[in-house]
Amino acid sequence: MSGKVLVCGGAGYIGSHMVRQLVAAGFEPVVFDNLSQGHAAAVEGVPLVRGDLLDPAALAAVFAGHEFDAVYHFAALISVGDSVIAPELYYRNNVVGALNLLDAMRTAGVGRIVFSSTAAVYGNPRTDKIAETHPQAPINPYGWSKLMMEQILADHARAHGIRAVSFRYFNAAGADPGGAIGEAHDPETHLVPNILCAALGLRPMLEIFGDDYDTSDGTCVRDYIHVNDIASAHLAALDWMDAHEGAHVFNLGNGSGFSNLEVLEAARKVTGIDIPHRIRPRREGDAGTLVADSAKAQSHLGWRPQHSGIEEIIESAWAWHRAPKYGPFA
Ligand code: UFG
Repeated sequence: MSGKVLVCGGAGYIGSHMVRQLVAAGFEPVVFDNLSQGHAAAVEGVPLVRGDLLDPAALAAVFAGHEFDAVYHFAALISVGDSVIAPELYYRNNVVGALNLLDAMRTAGVGRIVFSSTAAVYGNPRTDKIAETHPQAPINPYGWSKLMMEQILADHARAHGIRAVSFRYFNAAGADPGGAIGEAHDPETHLVPNILCAALGLRPMLEIFGDDYDTSDGTCVRDYIHVNDIASAHLAALDWMDAHEGAHVFNLGNGSGFSNLEVLEAARKVTGIDIPHRIRPRREGDAGTLVADSAKAQSHLGWRPQHSGIEEIIESAWAWHRAPKYGPFA
């Protein structure tokens, strides 16, 4: 495989893992990132254009400078809790920014896009495992911003003939085993890195948001998927789009749910550290349980997660967090 691809948000957590896989597969990625959460050090050796999706001139310039075969779009605000507090930021970045990207693609004649969507489009699930056909009813602006983009992509596919794949990620975690890249948000809001920071003494303790959900131990249940498994599905999507018109959505998860306390216990086993925690009130916008049915991605894309164990996922994150090469704790 070869070809030039634009990776918006390529210096971020999931984007940088994507860039590594693209390089390994023989592609020529160009990263477009405003570095608000991304890190130049995460994409060393790869062309990096510092720019913002809210700046159409910057987008036009990057498309004018290269002939892209496809676009990966990872650049978005991602915190469920923050989206409840400041919805305007989420709609502007995640919807207006992505519309600007689609405009630039259309002007440049680039017709394929892989889009990062989210399990948050489902809201509070009505089934144990969530398939793509499950009703979509987001319970926070973050989820709405992503669902709006899925609709916008479907409409663009009909009106302008673009091909699009949206991946609804469940909970991305872990790091590339090479140790060069990993998760480094500032501030960090995600469970696994916050647990590991508490294990390292970088925060006084883990705060667990809510223990009165309708789950086995009262804490929220999530489906954790290794970041490299997310990236490998994105790679498979390029081939798949060669043969399939239109806009399509796929879940990406392992199909197993772990409560926040179970993840904490798995981290205790991996680190050997009794990580302190306390229970806090619920975080607004959190669904109780989110577990994926990823059969569609498996059957259509021939994709299989390679790192399905929660301890294996945490182990790879632990290796990174003990020796981060960049980010707030480097
Ligand atoms: N949590 C804590 N303490 C923390 C951080 C998180 O208790 O310090 C809890 C949350 O309340 C939630 C669970 O851990 O119950 C997972 O929270 P994360 O913030 O790690 O992840 P989310 O499930 O909120 O969100 C992630 C992605 C979203 C995506 C969603 C879909 O960040 O983009 O998964 O499942 F939409």
